Amino acid sequence: MNAVLHIPAERLPARGGRSLIHHEQGLILLLDIDGELHAIGDSCPHAGASLFSGRLDGRWLQCPAHGLRFDVATGCPAGIKGFGLRRHGISWIAGECHVVIADEEVSA
Ligand code: FES
Repeated sequence: MNAVLHIPAERLPARGGRSLIHHEQGLILLLDIDGELHAIGDSCPHAGASLFSGRLDGRWLQCPAHGLRFDVATGCPAGIKGFGLRRHGISWIAGECHVVIADEEVSA
């Protein structure tokens, strides 16, 4: 069953920014890319490194540990199949942000 996490307005990233949200099951990295909010697990699917400090190039986030690049919008890594980022849905209810924490990884 999915969990829903309310994100207080003060924890939302500014345009082009990022924020890290702690919750019972781990960490969620929120990224604002060109005004669109994305929510991913803050753990690289390769070896678990934090992605928070990864370099962004458009929608591509580069893991700071070993350099794999992931399309934040799809979770897919560049040129590799079979695994990907753990992505979470975002729902806006009465102007408030909620992250829907998926039970399983969403991979390509
Ligand atoms: S832990 Fe991210 S590329 Fe290795």
